[in-house]
Amino acid sequence: MIKKKDVLIEELINSLKNLESVGKTDEAHEVLAKKILRYEGLIELGQLTSLNQDFKTIKKKAVSVLKKLLESEHVIIHIKDPKKNELYYVPSGAASGLGKCRSKIDETNFVGSCAHHMAILHIDDVKYDIRSGRMTSYIKDLEPKNMLLSPLVSKGEVLGVVQAINSTHGNFDEEDYHFVDAVSNQLTNVIENTLLIEKLHNQFLQVISALADAIGKKDSYTGGHTKRVAHFADCIGKEMDLTTTDMRDLKMAAVLHDIGKIGIEDKILKKETALNDEEFKIMKEHPRLGYEILGHIESLHRVVDGMRFHHERPDGKGYPFGLKGDEIPTIAMIISVADTFDAMISTRPYRKGLPPMVAYDEIVKFRGTQFSEDVVDSFCRWFEKSSMYKSLEVDKKRKAS
Ligand SMILES: [Fe+2]
Ligand SMILES: [Fe+2]
Repeated sequence: MIKKKDVLIEELINSLKNLESVGKTDEAHEVLAKKILRYEGLIELGQLTSLNQDFKTIKKKAVSVLKKLLESEHVIIHIKDPKKNELYYVPSGAASGLGKCRSKIDETNFVGSCAHHMAILHIDDVKYDIRSGRMTSYIKDLEPKNMLLSPLVSKGEVLGVVQAINSTHGNFDEEDYHFVDAVSNQLTNVIENTLLIEKLHNQFLQVISALADAIGKKDSYTGGHTKRVAHFADCIGKEMDLTTTDMRDLKMAAVLHDIGKIGIEDKILKKETALNDEEFKIMKEHPRLGYEILGHIESLHRVVDGMRFHHERPDGKGYPFGLKGDEIPTIAMIISVADTFDAMISTRPYRKGLPPMVAYDEIVKFRGTQFSEDVVDSFCRWFEKSSMYKSLEVDKKRKAS
């Protein structure tokens, strides 16, 4: 039977009083310091959701907090596969996840037993337990001596299992056993919230992609263009080592970058010859129109700025606002390069697309004037590794031989 937090605190106060009553003040302080550290860690764990990171990153951070909290050499968070009666985890360094390390929810293995009974499991000596024969090779490699497993339960359903392997103080004791319960409750909240945020984000991305497709229906060039710009922007963003949150905003902003074209009349948008000055002036309003559509969504302000400033230039000659240098957010500058590159290599009814190498040279030529220097450098690094560049190199060699 697991004791609740208030019972634990009462026990702590009693044990401190007992220690102090027999003159063991130093020992009492040590116990108190350890408890404080553990509860601080518990708070740290609860705050992970507010980092606004993706599930993989949160899980990685949670593992590092849990190692300290549970004083163990290794911690593994197993997540239930909703489609199967199994739990899985992805060992760090594994190329792809599902199927790598799976545990059936039954009594044949440690993780499955914990989930099956929805109860904390303490394995005193792993090698004497019959279930040790069913351990995956990855766990065997960790040379487990003892283990503490706790189910992550939400609304009566198992969401996962947290597994601590090898206590750093010899073996898991009564205190670890009680503490893992509090840890599991906190971790369940973190995992639930993070998965929910990720689900909402993906749903939102689907909605805005559908919105972007609506422009594609008006102009077939713009439809494919949006997807390609999102891809090029993603490649440049990765090369710039952007944070997960920035990458997420970049992806959304790239999908939405031409959303304002929804407000441009068809005769201009679908025109099969080059635009005249008056038409181009109207077309240049699309970032402003996009802002009118999405600008009121406060939580999207970084995404919206990425969209509304994608035609600005560091030298101030862009449109529609004429911003300069650092006034233009990085996300907008990345979309600017991705957008221009795609526009140059795409064939329009009135002109043939340029070869990628010519478009690349054009981007480099306007480094620091039309485009951000950092973004162009990252674009170049990506392009020179891309299949586009490699196929050009092969062609060059073929012609030379
Ligand atoms: Fe645009
Ligand atoms: Fe565009």
